[in-house]
This record gives sequence, C-alpha cells and structure tokens, in this order.
Amino acid sequence: MKRPPEGLGPVVTLDRRRARPLHQQLYDGYREAILDGRLRPGQRLPSTRTLAEDLGISRIPVVTAFAQLVAEGYIESRVGAGSFVSARLPDPPVTAARQAPADRARRPGVRRVPPSRLVARSEPWFDLRGPFRIAQPAFDEFPAALWARLVARHAQRLSPKQMAYGDPMGLPALREALAAHLRTFRSVACTPDQIMIVSGSQQALALAGQALLMPRDPVWLEEPGYPGARDALLLAAARIVPVPVDDDGLDVRAGIARSPRARAAYVTPSHHYPLGVVMSAARRRELLEWARRCGAWVIEDDYDSEYRYGGEPLASLHGLDGDARVLYIGTFSKILFPGLRVGYLVIPKDLVARFRTFRDAMDLFPATLYQAALAELVRDGHFARHLRRMRRIYGARRRALDAAIVEELGAAVRIVGDHAGFHLVVLLPPGARDHEIALRAAREGISVVPLSSCYVGRRTQPGLVLGFGSTRPGQMPEALRRLKKILHA
Ligand SMILES: Cc1ncc(COP(=O)(O)O)c(C=O)c1O
Repeated sequence: MKRPPEGLGPVVTLDRRRARPLHQQLYDGYREAILDGRLRPGQRLPSTRTLAEDLGISRIPVVTAFAQLVAEGYIESRVGAGSFVSARLPDPPVTAARQAPADRARRPGVRRVPPSRLVARSEPWFDLRGPFRIAQPAFDEFPAALWARLVARHAQRLSPKQMAYGDPMGLPALREALAAHLRTFRSVACTPDQIMIVSGSQQALALAGQALLMPRDPVWLEEPGYPGARDALLLAAARIVPVPVDDDGLDVRAGIARSPRARAAYVTPSHHYPLGVVMSAARRRELLEWARRCGAWVIEDDYDSEYRYGGEPLASLHGLDGDARVLYIGTFSKILFPGLRVGYLVIPKDLVARFRTFRDAMDLFPATLYQAALAELVRDGHFARHLRRMRRIYGARRRALDAAIVEELGAAVRIVGDHAGFHLVVLLPPGARDHEIALRAAREGISVVPLSSCYVGRRTQPGLVLGFGSTRPGQMPEALRRLKKILHA
C-alpha cells in the first residue's frame, strides 16, 4: 500500500542553552500545539526521522518526546502509517489556560467596528442554492471547457516573471484588454495604467474606503442600498449617511440636505441595487456637480449593467465626469462567476499612486494565473460572445419571471426594477414582515432576500428581492406557488 505523504509539524524552537533537555522542550512544543488547536485531532505528524533532520538533532530526543506524548494520550502511533494527533484528547490540565471565544471579543484593542454592525453573508438565504438565489449567474451555461483550456494553457507556461512578485495594479495584459472593453461597452474613458485588478468589487470598495476616507468621514449611501458597500465603508470607519432613492435614482438634494460636506457618495446608477431604477440624466449631472463643488468622490458600482434587455447598455456615470471625481468599479462575478473573485477599479489619474501604495500594503497584488487566462478571454472576444449569449438567456428568464409573478402572485405584489441585471423586487403590502417571510422561504429551500435588510434607517418598504440568473423558467411557477403559500400564511 502506498504510504500517504508525511504531515508537517508545528514550529517548535529548541534552545540548547536551556537547562531543560531537548526531548522535554520538544514534548512541551507539541503538547502546546495540540492543546491550542494548531494541531488538530487526526492530523498526521512528521516521522521521527524527518523531524530530527528538520531540527538538526539526533533521533533519540525526538523518539523520547513522541513516546511520552503517546503515553499521555496526545498522539497515537499506527504501525506502518505513522503518528497522528489522537482523535480523543486527554482533558487538558488546569494550567492550560484557554480563552473562551466570548472573552476574546472584549479584549482591549480588538477592532473598532463590532462585527454585529456588519451584515456579512450569514443569513440563511445566502447559503441556499434554491430558486431565486440573488447574485448567482447560470453556472450551467458557463463555457467551462473553454475556461479550463485557457487556465491549463497558462498554468503550463507561466513565465518566471509571472511566478515572481508582481505589479500591485495587476497584469498589464488584462488591464489593456479591459481598457478596450470598457471604452467600447461602458463608455469609460480610461487608460490601462488607471485600472487596478482587484479581488471582486468588495475589495475595490474596501480599498476605496481605506484610501479616500478618514475615520468618521460622512459618506452617502443609497437607501435602500447594497449591504456589501455598507460593510466595506464601515470597515473604513466611515459615517454612513443614508440618502433616499426614488424613480430617478439617488435623491441628490436630500443628500445635500443631510450631509452637504460628505466626502464620498456610493451609487449604482446604471441599475440600482436592489430597486433596479436607472439614475436619470438630470440626477447624474446634479451628483457630479455636487462632487466637483465639494471635492467629494463618487464611487460608481457598475456591477451588472452589461445585462440590459430593452436596448443597448446605458453609458456609465464615469463617461460624463469631466472632473475626475468618479471611481468606477466593475466585476467578473456576474458575467463569469463570483468564485473567481476578480473585479477591477478605474482610478482617477492623480490617485493611482496612492491606491497602488495602499494595495501593496494590503495584499501586494492579485494572483497572476487567472488574470492571464482572463486577459486572453477578453482580448480574443470570447468574453463579449459569452455576454451576448447570456443576455438572450437572462432576458428570456426575466420575461418568464414577470409573467409567472403576475400569474401566481397576482395583485398582492408589485414588481419594480428595470429590465436589466438578474434580480427584481416584488413590493409587499405595507406592514408585511419580509424578514420573517424570507426566513420561512429559506426553510423551504427558496432563497429570497428581504428588502428591509437593504435599509440602514428604520423606515423601510417591505418587499422581496428575487434573483433569476440561475433559475430556469420551468422552475419558476412551482417555486412561486410555494412562496405564495408562505405569503398567505
Ligand atoms: C451592488 C453589487 N455590487 C457588487 C456585487 C458583486 O460583488 P463582487 O464583485 O465582490 O462579487 C454585487 C453582487 O451581488 C452587488 O449586488
């Protein structure tokens, strides 16, 4: 039988000058690692020979230390297989002080934002893969074979340069391909040196918060709005100022009334999340004029506007900005898949050096392999082809969902949202408890998001956000009938 590869040991520092013998020091190090969880029950350990070689000592102290750990029940040795951390550990002696998790949160110096203020993705509807899951593209329509070919080819021919530390802005080939794509499809006038490849929109938002804001700086956030943006800005210790959204998008005058000197505004002008409205031309001008006058930044999250089913995609807000106040964020999460974790940020030229420095301090630079494959996908037209194909599929899904909602839920609800992206909102009658409804639906395997969870303030409109990207038209009527029962319960 083939032996499994040897395990790795914890870091144990041996000091020959200490009076405590080497085997005792080794025993202490392993016992501590087992008790504090660095070594897990069942985990394979290195052989005594390998460990002795790694530590540069003879095998005798290693064998003695392991024998003592076996005798006390911390490790088990299996003939022919090696040594493992015991599946059932002996009770720790009273002296092995363990921290209760609850105490850790209260330790001084731990984070300025309490995790309870962050929405995160812990709610049950985010876990489900059932009908109406939001933000989920049609995985079964993804060109998996083409993607696998591209990734394999680039993995096989990674150059030493691509294997080394890279540019905090990302791979030049991908940034060049994206600059051409954005100029053509999104009227984003930018050069490749303004584009930073990020790990999805979420990192772009977090980075913008870190690089642009001081703690307690006021930031306008659409109300209702995208909880991911709220969390990222809270991490930067921003003071969130909710600004209402109406049929023309963010109400700029209301924003000015609430916080005239805000440092930034977060908007989804091409397809508001979650209500799906498009920001009118007049509001776009007002927003850019306010930003110019006050020296504020506008963070444009253009997360799904490639998908519009009535005519051509709208131009971006970035394309109207004559004063370099707009930071434009895009993502591959909707067109390809969110597990890829790749997005991009278009940065005003005078801020590029600042963002580069912050990125360097944060996680150095993005992983190279997928960027190389993506560069080829975008440059050689596969990406645009996939986009066109998916536009037809999602357009048909949106029409099917509209029709099924009218048929199954009837007059009890109202659909809102432009024919774009792959979510819509059904508004519920005043007083409906959308949070409870969404929890019940989740228990039945239906994944809808309560609209109230997208509000910062207390005055909320009840409703449900339904995704249709990964839900086939044939599944919709039956799932809606089940949802209707929950609504009437
Ligand atoms: C408004 C909005 N922005 C961005 C994203 C995508 O985020 P990411 O690129 O981090 O996957 C989503 C996904 O649901 C979203 O709804």
